[in-house]
Amino acid sequence: MLERVKAGRYSQVEVNRGLPATSLVRYFTRVGREWEVAERLRERVTVRHLNLAAPYVGLGTFDMIWLRNVLIYFDAETKQDILRRMLPMLQLDGFLLLGSSETTLDLPADLSAAWRRDPVGRVQVHRRASAPPLDLSSTTSPSSPSSPLASTGA
Ligand SMILES: C[S@@+](CC[C@H](N)C(=O)[O-])C[C@H]1O[C@@H](n2cnc3c(N)ncnc32)[C@H](O)[C@@H]1O
Repeated sequence: MLERVKAGRYSQVEVNRGLPATSLVRYFTRVGREWEVAERLRERVTVRHLNLAAPYVGLGTFDMIWLRNVLIYFDAETKQDILRRMLPMLQLDGFLLLGSSETTLDLPADLSAAWRRDPVGRVQVHRRASAPPLDLSSTTSPSSPSSPLASTGA
């Protein structure tokens, strides 16, 4: 998986999962049957191996954390521990995106309340409970294909 991320190569099926055609043309080049992310974007990406279930420090804070389709592999206690440790890793106005079948509703009350759930188009985003109100006025309509949040396919 990490080698695939480093290579920045995606199949036609993968790029069809919500990526606007304008972004495909702008940021990808066709290589054989695959699409390759532009070098100018790939050189800005740091790829590191991380065991979510083990302690990790010093990663910093993030505007967006994608944690899609991975919490399903952990028992309830480990899932809770991971989501508790994710809170301070998210900027105050940052977003956590889970898989479409994953939820923070089944957590202990204090931890569930620490996460705010906001619908953005077809996607549910998670934010820190103390995050400022969601302001989408500077983006296009959530149902628009050019909306960055609506196009994640999460
Ligand atoms: C079903 S795939 C989801 C991949 C991707 N997030 C997506 O939604 O397409 C599950 C991923 O979880 C990763 N994973 C499983 N256990 C993990 C752990 N303890 N720490 C970090 N990643 C883990 C696997 O390596 C795999 O890449």
